[in-house]
Amino acid sequence: MASSTVRPEIQDGAPDEDRDHDVARRLLESAATLSYDPVTEVDWETPLDKDFHGASPEWSTLYGTAYWRELTDAQRKELTRQEAASVASTGIWFEMILQQMVLRDIYAKDPTQAGFQWALTEIADECRHSIMFARGARKLGAPAYRPHRIAVELGRVFKTVAFGEAAYAAILVAEEVLDVMQRDWMRDERVVPFVRTINNIHVVEESRHMKFARDETRRHLEKAGWLRRQIHAFVIAVASYVIVTSMVNKDVYTNAGLDRKRAVGEAKANEHHKSLMRSSCAGLMEFLASARLLTKPAQMFYKRANLI
Ligand SMILES: [Fe+2]
Ligand SMILES: [Fe+2]
Repeated sequence: MASSTVRPEIQDGAPDEDRDHDVARRLLESAATLSYDPVTEVDWETPLDKDFHGASPEWSTLYGTAYWRELTDAQRKELTRQEAASVASTGIWFEMILQQMVLRDIYAKDPTQAGFQWALTEIADECRHSIMFARGARKLGAPAYRPHRIAVELGRVFKTVAFGEAAYAAILVAEEVLDVMQRDWMRDERVVPFVRTINNIHVVEESRHMKFARDETRRHLEKAGWLRRQIHAFVIAVASYVIVTSMVNKDVYTNAGLDRKRAVGEAKANEHHKSLMRSSCAGLMEFLASARLLTKPAQMFYKRANLI
């Protein structure tokens, strides 16, 4: 990614505040160099070509199951298109939560600071992403996929009360999980070209967000005592569980013309998909371990979400 910085690296031992501002300044410079406008970058005009997948088939929740082997090529493609649309719609849900948490975090802070301006830049990115995902899901021929009612209500509470490392680590988990899928899909020639462009834009712009989220998580944890770390480690793990299990809405199977009950059962037991999630999220888990957020109770939820 193009990040042309002329600023010298801040040396170890520099005051924390300088270091934080330096990170935000570099992110702002990078955003100025390489950002996209999906309205003009994505091919919205060409009608959907149903010869393409919506996502890499290996990422389908049914890939590798007996049911998958019975599906025709056209059914598999319809399924991955519905799954890609569901992931995009869930992405919109995360991004709405994220925008509110970041906005709350900078409320009434110093607007002349790079950190403040970076936060607004990130919110603006997410705003464009959500519109892009909404249009993309529609072009894929999908209805509105919304998370389960319980997830929606938990999200409502979380975005209202979460702060510090709990907010930023949950943001990071959502961004990383989307990122690992989208990196594969953007390079995959079996995936419909406009979805590849959407994923490419998202991967480039989110790499800055993830850098910021990792940095903010570490910075906030420096001030956290034992009890706060335990509570937040648990809250982040529950949030991660809700995020991962909300990715693919169960209605995708009905909308792809499949037997919903059978599909849900086989997807739930799909060892291929579980091991793909685990291997793709290894880097994220390493970060959470290094931040000492993988407490025993937290690990239980990561295991249930098939992240470890
Ligand atoms: Fe985004
Ligand atoms: Fe983001």
